[in-house]
Amino acid sequence: MKTITLNNGVEMPVIGFGTFRTKDEEAYESVRHAIDAGYRLIDTAEAYGNEEAVGRAVRDSGVPREELFVATKLWKGNLGYMSGRRALHASLKRLGLDYVDLYIIHWPAEDERNLRAYRALESLYFEGRTRTIGVSNFSFHHLEHLLEHAEIAPQVNQVETHLRLQNERLQEFCMMNDIYLEAYAPLMSSRVKELLEDETLLETAKKHGKTPAQVALRYLLEREIVPIPKSATKQRIEENIDIFDFALDETDRKALREMNKGLKTFPDPDNFLIDL
Ligand SMILES: NC(=O)c1ccc[n+]([C@@H]2O[C@H](COP(=O)([O-])OP(=O)(O)OC[C@H]3O[C@@H](n4cnc5c(N)ncnc54)[C@H](OP(=O)(O)O)[C@@H]3O)[C@@H](O)[C@H]2O)c1
Repeated sequence: MKTITLNNGVEMPVIGFGTFRTKDEEAYESVRHAIDAGYRLIDTAEAYGNEEAVGRAVRDSGVPREELFVATKLWKGNLGYMSGRRALHASLKRLGLDYVDLYIIHWPAEDERNLRAYRALESLYFEGRTRTIGVSNFSFHHLEHLLEHAEIAPQVNQVETHLRLQNERLQEFCMMNDIYLEAYAPLMSSRVKELLEDETLLETAKKHGKTPAQVALRYLLEREIVPIPKSATKQRIEENIDIFDFALDETDRKALREMNKGLKTFPDPDNFLIDL
């Protein structure tokens, strides 16, 4: 699996596997299939309620732990220093692992609370409980405040990114600060059908003898954004990682770039308050 080098020297696979909205045996089976198909980055979260099944699949996979890159996330209710630290220990226990490769603040809250939680992530990083730390759903202003006060810059910002929401400015800001963008919902999540029926995407896929999903993921990969598609279907799990045998040309890139509509399908973190 190809990798990118994060700002602390850790290598992260260029594509990962998502596990949102899968639980128990379905989560276990899909992660087992994903690892068999060649995925090495597995993305879960405290909030998904599937860490136990994901961890079991990782441990049963037969792939050495150091060859896998396991990411989990700190949920909003635990955004504090002690609660953040306790939350990772609880996640590790559910996963049955000694460390994770990436620990992420799942949703931002007010700046001061983000910072307290981030201090917990930094302490866990220095103790070797996580090899990299990151944030998710962080916009410019969240990142600016964090970068002003953080001891170490995050390695990753995981945000909704796909052909209809291309995040070029956010990516540029992140790149200038040595932060990699990870694309969640790279196939537009529950609106996947709408994306995959787009004419431009269908035409580009036909031209390359690939599927629309493969082109959508390849486009992100070529922009050095790490997509983490989810599927509970064996054939699609394999399809989504089979994107290394073709390349988009300038004409494709221009047409696909024009699909951007700034369309967010997940809530805007600034206007989405979760009851704590
Ligand atoms: N940080 C955050 O706040 C956040 C939020 C959302 C997601 N995430 C992470 O990002 C991952 C990906 O996002 P997501 O799961 O919301 O959406 P996604 O990966 O964009 O789309 C998943 C949907 O697309 C379908 N699908 C997958 N591959 C397909 C293909 N080749 N052809 C047709 N349909 C296909 C899946 O159906 P089947 O399963 O039936 O195949 C599922 O309905 C998540 O699983 C999670 O790990 C993070």
